Amino acid sequence: MFRQYSQPAPVIYGCGAITILGEKIKELGCKKVLFVFDDGVEKAGIIRKAMDSVRRVGGLEMAFFGGVHSDPTDTVVDAGAETALNEKVDCIVGIGGGSSMDTAKAISILVTNPGPAKNYILATPIYVDTKVPVILVPTTAGTGSEVTKVAVISRPDTNGKWSVFINTTLSIVDPELTLTLPPEVTANTGLDALSHAAEAITGICWNPHSDLVGEAAIKKIAKNLKRCYDVPDDLDARAEMSLAANWAGLAFNDPITHVGHSVADAFSCSFHTPHGYNCAIALPETMALVAPAVPERVAVIGSALGIPLTGREEPAKLGSLVADEIRRLMHSMNISPLSSLGYSREQVISLYPDVVSNHLASYCPVKITDDVAKELLARVYDTY
Ligand SMILES: [Fe+2]
Repeated sequence: MFRQYSQPAPVIYGCGAITILGEKIKELGCKKVLFVFDDGVEKAGIIRKAMDSVRRVGGLEMAFFGGVHSDPTDTVVDAGAETALNEKVDCIVGIGGGSSMDTAKAISILVTNPGPAKNYILATPIYVDTKVPVILVPTTAGTGSEVTKVAVISRPDTNGKWSVFINTTLSIVDPELTLTLPPEVTANTGLDALSHAAEAITGICWNPHSDLVGEAAIKKIAKNLKRCYDVPDDLDARAEMSLAANWAGLAFNDPITHVGHSVADAFSCSFHTPHGYNCAIALPETMALVAPAVPERVAVIGSALGIPLTGREEPAKLGSLVADEIRRLMHSMNISPLSSLGYSREQVISLYPDVVSNHLASYCPVKITDDVAKELLARVYDTY
């Protein structure tokens, strides 16, 4: 069996890297750029930094779409595409968390293809050979969207979070842009990155290259995430987390994620809780579920998290050790249980059809039947 590892885009990494944005747009031969972002990124002064970089090189025009919100919908993509077409841009720059970067990716489809966006955002994702350059600048250390081919967009007409695969041109990872993140967002997004690496390593489409970056990402998250939560302006820790999230993105680009993200998507669509939070809540029991199927892979994750393993642990014990360690990290950053947010056990279990039908569940090494999904959701609720 052959296993594939892809690197969709070159990565420029380092403190202050956003200053090179204008130069890179010019190198691509583009004339007018559309910035795609949300309110928070603009208020943090990050769009101003991007504009400064573009102005410095001269000869480039700018347009703006600041209408992104969390869990962006296909209609948000359509609105952004309308701006792109009206402004006749030839470059898209997504600046922000996964929502802004994924919206930017999806908008790029509609610059050279007819709309609406929902024609491309499907339950079983397709690849669209997009032509317009897309530059992605993360302002969180979590999603890794800057180095993945996937854009995840909500389809309210189906109550689903569906996807499309596109080309990404360049990612610019500047840890300084994460310094203003509130602690809660730091925790949620960092745990999203952890879930990307852990699900990539344990999914059926694993490959040895992704394993390498995934394991390295988990080590960095274990060492630095809590520090970023406690001391938000620790630039060294922020720099390590930016790198970790980027590596976790590389880690899941080919293997994709699996049932943890199916659960997370179900929570997103029904509860509208943040994606990173949802992934975090789902992750411990996802690891416990897959440990008997892929114990040697869960052991890699356990060691990377810093658990002193003997190598003689029974698979189920291994799963519970890893789940406990993730829960310990979550508690240390005050991640709220679902019950404290007002959701009942019955409400959570009732989401099992959404978990089973999500295409991501098919990448799990354990077959996700109705009963398995119900049991997983119950354990997610009961154990945290
Ligand atoms: Fe995620």
